Amino acid sequence: METPAPTPRTPALIDRFGRRVSYLRLSVTDRCDLRCSYCMPKGFSGFEEPDNWLRFDEITRVVATFARMGVSRLRMTGGEPLLRRHLPQLVTQLSGLPGLQDISLSTNATQLHKHAQALRAAGVSRINVSLDSLDKACMEQITGRDSFASIMAGLRAGKDAGFDPIKLNMVVMRGVNDHEIMRMAQYCFEEGFILRLIEAMPMGDTGRNSQYMDVGPIREQLVHTFNLLPAAAELGGGPARYWSTQDGKGTIGFISPISQHFCATCNRVRLSVDGTLYMCLGQEEKFELRPLLRAGVSDDELESAIRTAIELKPERHEFKEQPHKIIRFMSQTGG
Ligand code: 5AD
Ligand code: SF4
Repeated sequence: METPAPTPRTPALIDRFGRRVSYLRLSVTDRCDLRCSYCMPKGFSGFEEPDNWLRFDEITRVVATFARMGVSRLRMTGGEPLLRRHLPQLVTQLSGLPGLQDISLSTNATQLHKHAQALRAAGVSRINVSLDSLDKACMEQITGRDSFASIMAGLRAGKDAGFDPIKLNMVVMRGVNDHEIMRMAQYCFEEGFILRLIEAMPMGDTGRNSQYMDVGPIREQLVHTFNLLPAAAELGGGPARYWSTQDGKGTIGFISPISQHFCATCNRVRLSVDGTLYMCLGQEEKFELRPLLRAGVSDDELESAIRTAIELKPERHEFKEQPHKIIRFMSQTGG
């Protein structure tokens, strides 16, 4: 029997600096049930109107177009993605798309106990969970809510559902949670989670007020304490640099957007819930796809709009040089 010819694929998405875009971060809502100090201000109410949220069919169309152009990895973000109703249904639609090889999710895990099994069954393979502290009171201070117990239940459910790996994201903040880094590392080693220590980025006023810490010295301390070795393989193709214990069982990642930016290898763009494509977390360049989708553009037109957008991708962020530049909050672009 003759094997069918491979689906014709359009040329890959390459930006002006020769970087190939292979990764899309998709924000499915800008709402969140928490108010992490570095992400969203306490009384924030500037949420996007539901009429402007891309519908599942619109999202699927955009992702299919990206996948045709070589985007093979997709991460769902928010706000808190699990607040978007029927999310597993969206995952089912997306996981069948040709070219898409990996669907992951970033969540605060407060609702994960309700949805873990359905998401896993629908095709989410890996999850990242935000957890900045193992102390209930400290979590309440950082997230603005009594969130700890539900997050712990979510993590257990995530493990039971078989997500592999589960990465824990900890934004390190001087005087807030930096005293907990060793304990968090130990906890993650015991639980089999990959800990990632992240420098707070100056996104909106909230991000700017977060007590920024350079993860470099923290890494040195952890390497010394746990005898860590640089991990050979990159785990997940993102900006984290990983180190592992001698037996290879424990892994810690360091994400240093400020102290050592990794823009030269940036492979991603972000689609916000209203269909705006953001080319960089730390720059304003964007392209609105929603008007095109709702005007009924053809697939070719959509593809060429995306190519035009990618041309706008800036060389690098300027968080250090211009820390007041980005006025949108992390929750608005998608973390
Ligand atoms: N700086 C760094 N990371 C941030 N996140 C949100 N806001 C910021 C910020 N200002 C990350 C957190 C969370 C994910 C959703 O986004 O790590 O886990
Ligand atoms: Fe919500 Fe995540 Fe932002 Fe915290 S960091 S407010 S959990 S979106």
